[in-house]
Amino acid sequence: MFAALNATTTPTANPLREGLSNRPLPQSCSVVIFGASGDLTYRKLIPAIYNIAADGDLPAALSVVGFARREKTDESFRKELQDALKKFSRSGLNDEVWKSFADRLFYHCSEFGDANGYKTLAERLDKLDEERGTRGNRLFYLSVAPSEFEGILNQLAAAGLNKAREGSWARVIVEKPFGTDLPSAQELNTVVNRVFEEQDTYRIDHYLGKETAQNIMVLRFANAIFEPLWNYRYIDHVQITACEPLGVEARGPYYESAGAMRDMVQNHLLQLLSLTAMEPPTDLGADSIRDEKVKVIRSLRPMSEEDVAKNVVRGQYTAGAIGGQEVKDYRSEDRVNPQSMTETYVALKVNIDNWRWEGVPFYIRMGKRLPKGGTEIAVQFKSAPSVLFNKPTEPQGPNVLVIRIQPDEGISLRMQCKMPGAAVRIEPVKMDFHYGTSFGKASPEAYERLLLDAMAGDATLFARRDEVEGAWTFVDHIEAAWHKSQNPPPLAFYPSGSWGPKEADDLLARDGHTWRRL
Ligand code: BG6
Repeated sequence: MFAALNATTTPTANPLREGLSNRPLPQSCSVVIFGASGDLTYRKLIPAIYNIAADGDLPAALSVVGFARREKTDESFRKELQDALKKFSRSGLNDEVWKSFADRLFYHCSEFGDANGYKTLAERLDKLDEERGTRGNRLFYLSVAPSEFEGILNQLAAAGLNKAREGSWARVIVEKPFGTDLPSAQELNTVVNRVFEEQDTYRIDHYLGKETAQNIMVLRFANAIFEPLWNYRYIDHVQITACEPLGVEARGPYYESAGAMRDMVQNHLLQLLSLTAMEPPTDLGADSIRDEKVKVIRSLRPMSEEDVAKNVVRGQYTAGAIGGQEVKDYRSEDRVNPQSMTETYVALKVNIDNWRWEGVPFYIRMGKRLPKGGTEIAVQFKSAPSVLFNKPTEPQGPNVLVIRIQPDEGISLRMQCKMPGAAVRIEPVKMDFHYGTSFGKASPEAYERLLLDAMAGDATLFARRDEVEGAWTFVDHIEAAWHKSQNPPPLAFYPSGSWGPKEADDLLARDGHTWRRL
């Protein structure tokens, strides 16, 4: 009964496919990329689809249609993508795979606002369905600035492309940034949901597609030993860190309007926080999981202006050196305001007001131009009682469970051990698991997983409307306090190549903690 009910919308599982037995399978479809001349297409989307093909995981029939304004032919588009794959494909470019892959790629030249371009797109997709067996299934990928969303969506609706034929589906993937505050996110959601139902809307947060982010739930809920400890009784605090040696590169204008808080915290880092802090879901369905994540976001204690001044540090990089190379200050970057107050670093202390996390601070920090790159979640447990080995005169460090999101993906647990020898000397040691050595194969790129999931109709790893809006509600209080006209909290400067401003260290020192060194 269940299989029959879902036959048209959800593919049935193939029990012969190892590891995928309980997951829906990607279905044959046409993927239409709006903004096909953009960077994301060349660096991420096409390499992702190519690598899925190289791994033999593409659905039986798949066409990719690039939709953009620049004049190109199918042939010239393919040639450009071939060059891009040489640079950006994680597995390089294999001639055999490329030959059959290239055959799936098409280019459709049109202005985003030209109704005729969508009419001809519809005809083209129908023809591809007939020739290639893509069965009327369409995945529209909006890889364009948010200001273009409404125009494209309205044109898709006018051409009837948002409505699938009986037995087929039409879905939309929306790239970030998803709004710049709550009202703009709500407006975007209204615009998108006027044309596509929420269940057919897939909002990208590429952190959710990272292998290690997906592993947070497995670690917590497939192992019996962690969950009993995963609460205020045993956990002292949690640190979520994302460091980047890169500056803003060529993205000055975008970054000026975003800053680290909107660019990384509102989306990626709050997603990591909600996976770390959520309750066990009732099942592994997309909505059960997202229901639990959104409860965490709703439990974040809102910050008053005084809280922001006390618990949030915003920083900006000055000139310095990274890896022995001199780099300039943020205000001298290309197309950045020389008096910019935009933060390239943010550190904050967050409280989750629910039973499980009462009194447990979650510290989040993100910075550009730090000495090295890395993202991790460190769960620091409470110290052992101050008797026996953990005397006040000789305190031992606490246990720390570190989930390394990237690079060197893995998990480590720090504990105390006796050093060999007659004396009782205690040293911290680490139990360390590395994806690379344990599984011996590279993790797929986040976009590979996300594209396959969208083709399969599995929205688990995509942000739902209420999650996005809840995260903006929290972040908007902070942005408002930063941008008030009277006495906004100061901007803290840090030299490029340092670990961030001193004020961020003070934030933790007040609670008797220090940031972990990555
Ligand atoms: C993007 C941000 O969403 O994520 C970038 O816009 C940031 O500023 C990037 O560098 C980080 O992603 P990753 O996968 O490199 O950690």
